[in-house]
Amino acid sequence: MSAPARLLVRDLAQLATPAGGGAPARGRALAEVEVLEDAFVLCAGDTIETVGRMRDLQPLDGGVRELDGRGLCAVPGLVDCHTHAAFGGDRVDEFSLRAAGAGYEQLHAAGGGILSTVRATRAAGEDGLRANVERHRGWMLRHGTTTFEAKSGYGLDRDTELASLRAIRSAGGIPTWLGAHAVPPELDGNADAYLDFALADVLPEAAMLAEAADVFLERGAFDAAQARRYLEACRDAGLALRLHGDQFTEQGAIPLAIELGARSVDHLEATGPDGVRALAASDVVGVLLPASALFLGRPMPPARALVDAGAAVALATDFNPGSAFCESLPLCCSLAATQMKLSPAEALTACTVNAAHVLGRADRLGRLAPGRQADIVLLGAPDWRYLAYHLGGELVTGVVLAGEPMELR
Ligand code: NIG
Ligand code: FE
Repeated sequence: MSAPARLLVRDLAQLATPAGGGAPARGRALAEVEVLEDAFVLCAGDTIETVGRMRDLQPLDGGVRELDGRGLCAVPGLVDCHTHAAFGGDRVDEFSLRAAGAGYEQLHAAGGGILSTVRATRAAGEDGLRANVERHRGWMLRHGTTTFEAKSGYGLDRDTELASLRAIRSAGGIPTWLGAHAVPPELDGNADAYLDFALADVLPEAAMLAEAADVFLERGAFDAAQARRYLEACRDAGLALRLHGDQFTEQGAIPLAIELGARSVDHLEATGPDGVRALAASDVVGVLLPASALFLGRPMPPARALVDAGAAVALATDFNPGSAFCESLPLCCSLAATQMKLSPAEALTACTVNAAHVLGRADRLGRLAPGRQADIVLLGAPDWRYLAYHLGGELVTGVVLAGEPMELR
């Protein structure tokens, strides 16, 4: 068998990688980022062989493809652990109404919001959904996202939920079954009857397509008892557990996540001091979604308090048509620094190795280190911290995905 093709990314101004470890980085460890000046990354096939300083680069024999890294910084491929990329239509009308003062929850209660995307997603068909997730994946890649999770949850019927999960898989995403996102219009607000249906008719096949299950635990969506019922059934079917919790109100998402051993609880804009303490003392990762808070004009999650209390946090976009039409993790890093007072290093750890932990892939993803997948983001900047500093900038000049340089535009 011939040796795998090698790729050398050379003469990088800087290379920055989180320290990482067997568990998600928490508290002070979030800021542990190793920075090498005048650096290289050598890849063999889809895997990183070595990283180091140019002066330590050994002579390489055989054909090695080279990428010129002069004037660039390398960080690990970004990992977006929370998106809703499988949807039809858009919510630009609702966005304009909100700009004029309408409330997000109010629009939802009136049958708009999530339910308007449910109508458009059901109408899109599986081919349409596949094309949409592919398009969204391209947007994410141009912002440096090399791994993305995406949730169903805009079908809420058997065919569209399963079609969403298949579309996510076929676009290379990591599928999560958000079977309990909202009560579909045909069930007329009867959440228990909807769960009867979802758990009996959708879960058996969803469990074969998805890796995790997620629930929207919130007033107007599912309550804690319903969330528990849904999550326990999903856990018994072999799925990892996630929760949308404390977005608008505290409804017991954090204690439930801890009790059930969930991988994460996501949003946390409404989390108070007790929730901060409980989450920090647990193994559940808090997923921060600052683009969603910004887009809805909501308070930011208490990220600084969580990290200072020793919590493990991740950072994600929440990309979706209603509450966060934003696919850029670099922008989320800027929001993390400017609005949530995380350092660039904490933000980098949160959207690389910690996000990979949330997706159960931290053994392969999230760091620039030997044996990791060769996913590399090249920033057109003299200092890697531009990742957070250059607010909304055109920063990502190159992406290497599993050892292959990508065509970005
Ligand atoms: O994470 N909060 C619930 N779900 C999504 C928004 C869905 C939508 O508005 O379409 C979220 O914000
Ligand atoms: Fe979400």
